[in-house]
Amino acid sequence: MSTTETAAIGFEEIDRGAARIAADAKRMINARTDVNQLLPLKYTWAWDKYLVACANHWMPTEVAMQADIALWKSPGGLTDDERTMLKRNLGFFATAESLVANNIVLAVYRNLTNPECRQYLLRQAFEEAVHTHTFQYVCESLGLDEGELFNMYREIPSITDKDAWALEHTRALSEPDFRTGTPAADRAFLRDLVAFYVVFEGMWFYTGFAQILSLGRRNKMVGIAEQYQYILRDESIHLNFGIDVITMIRMENPHIWTADFVEEIRTMLREACDLEVAYARDTMPRGMLGLSAQLCEKYLHFITDRRAEQLGLDPLFGETENPFPWMSEAMDLKKEKNFFETRVTEYRTGGGLDWD
Ligand SMILES: [Fe+2]
Ligand SMILES: [Fe+2]
Repeated sequence: MSTTETAAIGFEEIDRGAARIAADAKRMINARTDVNQLLPLKYTWAWDKYLVACANHWMPTEVAMQADIALWKSPGGLTDDERTMLKRNLGFFATAESLVANNIVLAVYRNLTNPECRQYLLRQAFEEAVHTHTFQYVCESLGLDEGELFNMYREIPSITDKDAWALEHTRALSEPDFRTGTPAADRAFLRDLVAFYVVFEGMWFYTGFAQILSLGRRNKMVGIAEQYQYILRDESIHLNFGIDVITMIRMENPHIWTADFVEEIRTMLREACDLEVAYARDTMPRGMLGLSAQLCEKYLHFITDRRAEQLGLDPLFGETENPFPWMSEAMDLKKEKNFFETRVTEYRTGGGLDWD
């Protein structure tokens, strides 16, 4: 246990005579308890998410890509609009996963002073690496121009605008002397969590999922669609973890959750929604696959209101109808083929250890 007034990050001198930790003394941020001791658990929801995430293990290379490759290479396989949408979608995700991973490792981990949450963050960071791997694998399988794909976040303005907006909210935390512990700094940390967990992973990724899954529903690019379903399953846990973390910080620090701050978060959600609507227009100038920029806008309003509700805020748009009800069905992977059950068995007995 640190004897200083600053929060524990894990590198403090070992306090040889300190009393043992009581779970009650643990805190999400600004904890003074030893962050190197996982037990006793306090936030069992974080530990449970870690266990579920591990049980969901998958690798992109386990998904067959032959049908996607054949369709992509066939001149009439996809329309020009479908190709543009697919490439921009992949281009957005290809770097977005790295932005999210960097935020976890470089900004969130240090400031979240709870070992069970950090245990989940370590798992999440690996999952983001798996997601980035997915885009490398798709790029290689389809023979896409890697320079084009991985530079879209700098070269396609509607993608740049989104990423630049999110990076604004992590910049304060990347300052070497940033520390939580004042209301202003604690709010900066919460802004970062809202920008990445609620907006990036909980809003922007969802239009991306809708685009690809609507291709998959029409039996197009089924390998990528399957990978996106696994990513969607991971991301829905990332989102819920973020919401739980924000809610718990708010409960433990009610003084930072002022009316002005609530208004600020509502403004963030509105700005994020506007940026996504612009991206949808840019990516799908004409309707296709039962999707259109207008329907995506409606979906985004629905999703934004849902996220506001999860944060305990009033709805921004009053959109109660989900124009893509099949998105909820897509999240139920039990309807899919028995991929994970075989995978899980393989991982458990997996490859045997070779000690030679
Ligand atoms: Fe991800
Ligand atoms: Fe994520």
